[in-house]
Amino acid sequence: MHNDFDELLNRKGTDCLKWDGCAARFPGLDTSGALPMWVADADFRAPREVVERLTQMAGFGVYGYPAPLREEFAGALKSWLHRRHKLEIKKDWVLFSPGVVPSLNIAIQTFTDEKDGIIIQPPVYYPFKRSIEANRRKAINNPLIYKDGRYLMDFDGLAEKAADKNNKMLILCSPHNPVGRVWEESELRRLRTVCAENGVLLFSDEIHSDIVFAGHTHLPALALGTEKIVTAFSMSKTFNLAGLHASAVVIPDALLRQKFRDWLRRSSMESGGSFGVQAFIAACRYGEPYLEEMLSYIEESISFAREFTAKNIPCARFVNMEGTYLAWLDFNGSGLAPDVIDKTVVEKAKVLGDLGRWFGEEGAGFVRLNFACPRAIVKQALENLQKAFQA
Ligand SMILES: Cc1ncc(COP(=O)(O)O)c(C=O)c1O
Repeated sequence: MHNDFDELLNRKGTDCLKWDGCAARFPGLDTSGALPMWVADADFRAPREVVERLTQMAGFGVYGYPAPLREEFAGALKSWLHRRHKLEIKKDWVLFSPGVVPSLNIAIQTFTDEKDGIIIQPPVYYPFKRSIEANRRKAINNPLIYKDGRYLMDFDGLAEKAADKNNKMLILCSPHNPVGRVWEESELRRLRTVCAENGVLLFSDEIHSDIVFAGHTHLPALALGTEKIVTAFSMSKTFNLAGLHASAVVIPDALLRQKFRDWLRRSSMESGGSFGVQAFIAACRYGEPYLEEMLSYIEESISFAREFTAKNIPCARFVNMEGTYLAWLDFNGSGLAPDVIDKTVVEKAKVLGDLGRWFGEEGAGFVRLNFACPRAIVKQALENLQKAFQA
């Protein structure tokens, strides 16, 4: 097996959310025959070494309880973070978690109380708000500023909200899904200062940290200090492993870490599932060449799409993608109402992207398209959009 990112894999009927779960996710819209470019997983095979490891395990045929999480897991992540992000961590700081959204929920339950405020910066990955509210906390919106096609954090708003003693946690999305920003050091420093000055715990979701394009560097928030911070890392976006439910949290503070670990222990989740853990380790160890190839492939798709959009879909603005494989297109220039834009994209263009309004009202009239797919799909989607918005 090689890394053929052009290969059109038939994922239909494989118990796959992206291709088999469309109708349920877009109620009221006709999704028949539409190209699925929504949920953030890739239409790519995982690296060969990961597939081989899993095949070997599957072939053994014994699927009993795994050993308590070994050094290997923490060591693999430590080495990955050192190589890819120049971040030095201690192995002791690492805990297994069955996913980043589960980590977020555990952090909310462990480090905040009911009715506490938790700050988010919409438009942002919608399970943040959902997790906050499902745990009976309050989502405190501090929207990003959208200026000249670029998104910035509203630091005045952040300072004001962090100073409110009811607000106990801030969730950072870094890089930011869906707007594609890779936060710069100066921005992260300011954010960390605001949190530190107000005793606000930072939950830094860095699931997209490996998908960063030329000219940009992901800086882990942890590189700027180890106090009051929980960082979630995962290999699931990088290597398309989301269905295996393995991720990691890194918590330098011993007390916070103990509380998080207690939650995992109580729930019998500390060790994780063997397949997820072993895939995570193999990906960290052997995945770099695959990642480099994938980044080049996606970057070419982005260049193509940016030029195509500028030339052929004048009513759309293609927001610059610094990181993540998720493109963020602004169709508000069409003059159409947001619900008409949604209908045009889904029913006329037959393109299934995440609808911008899912990410907060700031996203209305935008669509998020997943570029972790063969370029032929990106081209087809853009041609469809061109026709749909011309007519
Ligand atoms: C910012 C962000 N966090 C978390 C997740 C999901 O993580 P997990 O599947 O590990 O719960 C996603 C998936 O799209 C994401 O974009």
